[in-house]
Amino acid sequence: MTGPSLRQLHAHHAIHQGGLSGAVAKTEEVEKLLELHELEIARQAADHLVEYWETRILSHAEAEEEGFYPEMAANHPGLQDAVTKLTRDHELLRTIVTDIKSMLSEDGLTPEVLQQFHALLVVNAIHSRDEERLLLEEPSL
Ligand SMILES: [Fe+2]
Ligand SMILES: [Fe+2]
Repeated sequence: MTGPSLRQLHAHHAIHQGGLSGAVAKTEEVEKLLELHELEIARQAADHLVEYWETRILSHAEAEEEGFYPEMAANHPGLQDAVTKLTRDHELLRTIVTDIKSMLSEDGLTPEVLQQFHALLVVNAIHSRDEERLLLEEPSL
């Protein structure tokens, strides 16, 4: 979707906020279930959280790379560098999600998996902040 929503700071920020707060809540849910020793349900919640990252966050990244990013770079050639950096952030998110999936299938829901879920939250928050700043708040280049 390269709808106008991605080009508008307020709407795009709302997409980022919604995605992030859902991921934070679902991560906390996994941790709470682990504390309660509900191991099987925690594992299901972790699988659900992976799915959430794929369908909410990675699909948003894909939509940006298909429409919004090339459009911004074409309209503002000075933004090509920013687009390249932001695309690398997306790659990091994809790599972490892929790693989580193989860790989950090989060793189950370990503390290392939880660390990677937190890494996703951090990388994604920084990425969204930079994306809004570079492409939507000061796209004068
Ligand atoms: Fe993005
Ligand atoms: Fe975005």
